[in-house]
Amino acid sequence: MIIRPKVRGFVCVTAHPEGCAAHIQEWIDHVKAKGPIHPGPKRVLVIGASTGYGLASRIAATFGSDAATLGVFFERPSEEGRPATPGWYNTIAVTRAARAAGRYAKNINGDAFSDDIKRQALELIRADLGQIDLVVYSLASPRRTHPRTGAVHRSVLKPVNQPYTNKTVDTDKGIVSTVTIEPATDLEVADTRAVMGGEDWELWMNALADAKLLAPGAQAVAYSYIGPDVTWAIYKNGTIGLAKNDLERAARNIDSLLKLNGGGRAFISVNKALVTQASSAIPVVPLYISILYKLMKAAGTHEGCIEQVQRLFATQMYNGCTPKFDELGRVRVDDWEMREGIQAAVREIWPRVTTENLADETDIAGYRTEFLKLFGFGLKGVDYAAETEPHIPML
Ligand code: NAI
Repeated sequence: MIIRPKVRGFVCVTAHPEGCAAHIQEWIDHVKAKGPIHPGPKRVLVIGASTGYGLASRIAATFGSDAATLGVFFERPSEEGRPATPGWYNTIAVTRAARAAGRYAKNINGDAFSDDIKRQALELIRADLGQIDLVVYSLASPRRTHPRTGAVHRSVLKPVNQPYTNKTVDTDKGIVSTVTIEPATDLEVADTRAVMGGEDWELWMNALADAKLLAPGAQAVAYSYIGPDVTWAIYKNGTIGLAKNDLERAARNIDSLLKLNGGGRAFISVNKALVTQASSAIPVVPLYISILYKLMKAAGTHEGCIEQVQRLFATQMYNGCTPKFDELGRVRVDDWEMREGIQAAVREIWPRVTTENLADETDIAGYRTEFLKLFGFGLKGVDYAAETEPHIPML
């Protein structure tokens, strides 16, 4: 079948297998070019391993420090006349490349929130790896079925307490408009915390600890975002930000657990705003990202997921480095994004962006390029006019 991008709002409903593989190769090349991370993690569990920051973590560990990886994710295979999700193709490409390099790479596709998937992961670790040195928790999900109560919690991206009005951009059509988002109900706040907060991360870590599958000194990291005040109502102080506060609470508990396990640690890494499937769904944020990309590219400080995670591993976690924590115990690889010069320029540009000047004032073109790359489109060397086989079994 010939696969072309079909963008519907903030998602693309098609994905290109060879394009996804070419994208993965760019990330692998970056990690290799940066050189070995030594000493680095050797046996890594990545929960949310198929796209975005989790995928970057898997690649940085595999090709930076020769790690064996177990990836957990939730992706849809191809169906009649319909390609698989990009995370499906990404995982196949990563697994092939890892195995070709002589590295262990296995995958579990299913609901990471469930007891069953946790049990499968524990069994595989026990049988194949013995123990784990690093757990990366990088889920971004719209819903969670609670494993104890069976309740289905749905996360929402809303402000809390009062309505929020700001500019937003339809990245597909290039139209800048004003959006007003009504505040979340108490139930929506609690539901978002249940999905994107820290309870599930704790369940994973406690299950691994109880089964004695954490190597002495093992580390755990989960990812968060803070950003500038223009996005605070919808992010940091919104439903997702409150859930992230709960993730920080969980990090402190897990840190205590790991400290007692041979002096390990758990922490939150606050990362840069980037185009991913998760972030493109947040109102207002894509416009901010489009401005940010323009400014950071001009400053020579622009990074994508792989650059962010490679820097996190190489300068904060491994390579003989120890994390430089902020006052709340978080690592900040959003440091270049949050530089005063960059943020002052964002504040200056923000009020004057319109549909008419969007292409000049922002890097909307770069945003769109990155967005399509998430689905394997626009990669050099891929013949998009050629027939391609969408049905590829998971490895
Ligand atoms: P993403 O959408 O690219 O990746 C999400 C991953 O979670 C995928 O591997 C997906 O398969 C997996 N997943 C979702 N539901 C699942 C389930 N029920 N069971 C198993 N796997 C499931 O998201 P992204 O952006 O990489 O986000 C990862 C983390 O990084 C999130 O905590 C997010 O808040 C954080 N972050 C994202 C930033 C951004 O700008 N994109 C910035 C800073 C932090």
